[in-house]
Amino acid sequence: MSLSTATDPRVVVVTGAGAGIGRACALRFAAEGLRVAAVDVDAARAAATSNAINAAGGDAVNVHGDVSLAATSNRAAQAALDRWNRIDALVANAGIQVSGRLLDMPEPEWQRVMAVNVDAVAHAWRGSWPRTADAPFPPLREADFMADPLRFGSHGE
Ligand SMILES: NC(=O)c1ccc[n+]([C@@H]2O[C@H](COP(=O)([O-])OP(=O)(O)OC[C@H]3O[C@@H](n4cnc5c(N)ncnc54)[C@H](O)[C@@H]3O)[C@@H](O)[C@H]2O)c1
Repeated sequence: MSLSTATDPRVVVVTGAGAGIGRACALRFAAEGLRVAAVDVDAARAAATSNAINAAGGDAVNVHGDVSLAATSNRAAQAALDRWNRIDALVANAGIQVSGRLLDMPEPEWQRVMAVNVDAVAHAWRGSWPRTADAPFPPLREADFMADPLRFGSHGE
């Protein structure tokens, strides 16, 4: 299946696109012809990803922001809509990893992990999903890191 076509290029929002898995996803999607909104809390990294895509002939914008804030997701969705007037897929990938025992974890650290790794996924979907649902064809579910965002929490996931 083609992820995107030259006459009907699709748009993906990738969070945590400045490094690692998110950057790899952003570059791969761009190579497949998708337009990419690259979101990262590290402004230089977000710009580096979008610059790499644009330098290679793709089309990308970067959005600097902390995904634990709903405003970041809304800005990312708006940036994609302003530039391409559509959103087809979301990769809610940004996350942080902490190590150690839960019992030793200071409360603020726990709250930060929950905000970035859990709350941010909901923010990202709330920001982009209403737009993807309006797309004239089914959104790219293969790109979803969660099987069904609309069911999140309703079945104990
Ligand atoms: N690498 C692995 O083996 C592995 C395994 C399981 C799960 N994961 C998860 O996959 C995701 C990506 O992992 P990775 O190894 O590519 O991570 P990484 O640390 O290499 O990259 C994460 C990117 O997300 C950005 N980021 C972090 N917090 C952010 C925030 N609050 N707002 C916006 N951007 C933020 C970072 O700046 C960075 O560019 C994470 O959620 C991670 O927990 C990774």
